Amino acid sequence: MIGALFSLAKPALHALDPETAHQLTIRGLSLMPATVAPKDDPRLGIGVFGKPFPNPVGLAAGFDKQCEVTDQLLSLGFGFVELGGVVPKPQAGNPRPRVFRLAQDEAIINRFGLNSDGLEIARQRLARRRGRSGIVGVNIGANKDSADRIGDYVQCIRELCGLAGFLTINVSSPNTPGLRDLQGEAFLDDLLARSIEARDKADQGRARTIILLKIAPDISLDALDAIVATALKRGIDGLTVSNTTVARPETLQDKALAVQTGGLSGKPLFVPSTRLLAETFLRVERKIPLIGVGGVDSAEAAWAKIRAGASLVQLYSALVYKGPGLIGDIKRGLLEGLDRERIALDRAIGRDASDMAQGQF
Ligand SMILES: Cc1cc2nc3c(=O)[nH]c(=O)nc-3n(C[C@H](O)[C@H](O)[C@H](O)COP(=O)(O)O)c2cc1C
Repeated sequence: MIGALFSLAKPALHALDPETAHQLTIRGLSLMPATVAPKDDPRLGIGVFGKPFPNPVGLAAGFDKQCEVTDQLLSLGFGFVELGGVVPKPQAGNPRPRVFRLAQDEAIINRFGLNSDGLEIARQRLARRRGRSGIVGVNIGANKDSADRIGDYVQCIRELCGLAGFLTINVSSPNTPGLRDLQGEAFLDDLLARSIEARDKADQGRARTIILLKIAPDISLDALDAIVATALKRGIDGLTVSNTTVARPETLQDKALAVQTGGLSGKPLFVPSTRLLAETFLRVERKIPLIGVGGVDSAEAAWAKIRAGASLVQLYSALVYKGPGLIGDIKRGLLEGLDRERIALDRAIGRDASDMAQGQF
């Protein structure tokens, strides 16, 4: 139903500038009743981070930055949703235009710069849905003008523990100057140590809030070695691979828009982010789960992420081009794949990581 509505609305939405179209989409979703999604086939269910995910297909951060339509998104059939990025103080982000559709490439470039209503508003919106079902995470960042960036993450963790099932430390957005420097070894060690400490203090007497770290696709394998070692040492619960890329592959068709500054997502991100996912899987040695994100636009792409090492997948850009019907298509396609290969979902995780790290998909 919602898929058919999207097909009708898509030409009108895509005639608008992307940010206006997105605002209208959020508005439309907010007017929708948040019904409970139909039950998923049990074969799609998977236990990750000690939580029972009804299916492995999640919404990536950045779609519902202001935490406005959580339950409507869950009712579209996602197995989990990640809200935000949220930063402590409200901030406007970069001037418009700051998001661009590269339609021929099924890609997006954005330089939002973590525009956020701020932590207090996010906290209130999440508190209003306390007790409702569904696995909901929040992506957290630091204010652009913050004098204590690590303190910003700690504040978000302190206030969101108990309101979200997981919190994702975003040190990989290319649109906040200097943010990705937090991926450097010394900073990261301090950031993760203080984040875990804040989580443990805030969670006392409650179920543990899962803390994830989301990394950029534009890092060297040496940097990845250090990130994985630090994450494991500090007891991070999982890694999300990856955020958008600052690279501009030669293959991009829309040369005019490719020059825009910002992070590229969608189809052209699939190969580099999946290779990095496989490299991460080989380093993590199954000690913690991974979420695979970047260019998931079909069941085949989701299946490839799983084979590369993802326990769960997320998507955003493909929704812009294919609409919410894609969620059901991916779930159906995954079930067909499981039948065809006579394998359980969790047995496929990382099966082809060694080949995929070499670029053999
Ligand atoms: C418009 C837009 C805004 C985004 N905002 C965030 C964000 O706030 N925090 C974050 O960690 N990732 C953000 N992302 C990155 C996505 O979560 C995801 O990692 C990336 O888009 C790759 O997935 P995709 O190819 O399925 O879009 C954003 C992506 C887009 C397109």
